[in-house]
Amino acid sequence: MNQYDYVIVGSGIAGLYTALLAKEQGSVLIITKGSIGDCNTRHAQGGIAAAISKNDSPEIHFHDTIAAGDGLCDEEAVRILVDEASDRITDLVNFGVPFDTLNGEIALTMEAAHSVPRILHAGGDATGEHIEVTLSERVHDSKIQVLEDCLATEILVEKEQVSGVRALDCRTSSVEEFGCRSLILASGGAGQLYKFSTNSEIATGDGVALAFNAGAEIIDMEFFQFHPTALRLPGVTPFLISEAVRGEGGTLRNTEGHHFMPDYTPDGDLAPRDIVARSIVYEMERTGSDRVFIDATHLPHKVTTTRFPHIYRFCLDHGLNVTKGLVPVAPAAHYMMGGTKTNIWGETNIAGLFAVGETACTGVHGANRLASNSMIEVLVFSKRIIERIGKGAETKAPPVSRSVEVHHSLSWRQVPEVLPAPSFSTLQQLHWDKVGIIRDIESLTQVADIMAAWQKSLPQPVDRPTYELSNLILCGRLVTEAALLREESRGAHFRSDFPHSLPQWQRHIVLVK
Ligand code: SIN
Repeated sequence: MNQYDYVIVGSGIAGLYTALLAKEQGSVLIITKGSIGDCNTRHAQGGIAAAISKNDSPEIHFHDTIAAGDGLCDEEAVRILVDEASDRITDLVNFGVPFDTLNGEIALTMEAAHSVPRILHAGGDATGEHIEVTLSERVHDSKIQVLEDCLATEILVEKEQVSGVRALDCRTSSVEEFGCRSLILASGGAGQLYKFSTNSEIATGDGVALAFNAGAEIIDMEFFQFHPTALRLPGVTPFLISEAVRGEGGTLRNTEGHHFMPDYTPDGDLAPRDIVARSIVYEMERTGSDRVFIDATHLPHKVTTTRFPHIYRFCLDHGLNVTKGLVPVAPAAHYMMGGTKTNIWGETNIAGLFAVGETACTGVHGANRLASNSMIEVLVFSKRIIERIGKGAETKAPPVSRSVEVHHSLSWRQVPEVLPAPSFSTLQQLHWDKVGIIRDIESLTQVADIMAAWQKSLPQPVDRPTYELSNLILCGRLVTEAALLREESRGAHFRSDFPHSLPQWQRHIVLVK
């Protein structure tokens, strides 16, 4: 078995940036189930939040993040995020990320629920792509070993300490093991749970499934963020229409042409994402439509084409001119706030196992992530993981606990009388219809029963598609069980049978095997 100091699972911003830091301390292997560029980072448009302007401060960023998180952010983690953000931006600039500038300064835009413009961007709306390409080049220059088409299938643990990872070579179907002192999960979220999703095909919850099966604690899974505005055209995969379009002045209109967001909240089009997404659902129901529209026709032509070149081009390719007409949009699954529970050093409850990015839950996002806080979270906590390992952290499992927690294991469930056959499309339709923006006990119970029965009946996975389906079924079960347990509404989790936040639920749900 080949032995490394660090094995990193995933090749988005989290995997690449962590690898670049780790290589200063030892041998590094990145394994990724597709090619190095297959990741969600590439699709990130809006940008990356950091309090770097004269009119901003870490304190204001702290308050905006806490307000969006609706009572469930870990304040210590948020404090670290906002304080360390600007140094991590300097790291990206030093690696060569070409942030957009205005009059010689880094340009900043506004997004929903931020008090001031603080979103850095690159190539207008191609921020993720620029970060991913730049970091991939640095990884290549550094001669860090990257194994593509290599799917991690099991975390190896000996005497309560990670000893390596088992993986499948997706081209040859051979199984390999890689030994390591530290295993870092950086494999993204589970957006493929849902029929409508802004996520790439890789987002099948692999990191959470690996961690849960190894005995790690999984937290906050009921909080799944739906982006309010993904392009909604028949037969076209949902394409993100960045929140920055509203940040620059775009407005939402219903099928009757009415600008409806001010009817729901004084924050209007720039209210937190969960509120905008739910308001859109109500408005679609009221008007009997599957879409609303984003109106950017009043913005100067040049603003739209230079700030949003990708959106402009994608829409034009589909017969829509953003500068001249309304663009049909609807919410789509976007970001998993929950994940593998870590402390402020990225450590899980298993010694030698770390998690970062969407597959982790550091507590920064609480019940609802503030826009553009995810890539900055990756940078801040990747750096802390490498610092911690440098100090010899992997020798013992750390105590990891959030303020107030309830622990649950997955319980027995009734086998439904009619059980559909497991498939990606059925899973995605079920989650979209019943575990989506608005949930209730009946729909959640139905899906939890089906996921449990599927888990039992699924044969041992043998290739990438069967592993991915198995991982998504597990993640779907975790999301659904947590959503059933949380008998209130908070942040991105809305129960029509419990429509209010309750003080007794200001706590976290932790699921364990
Ligand atoms: C967007 O551009 O609207 C997405 C940004 C994010 O999800 O943080």
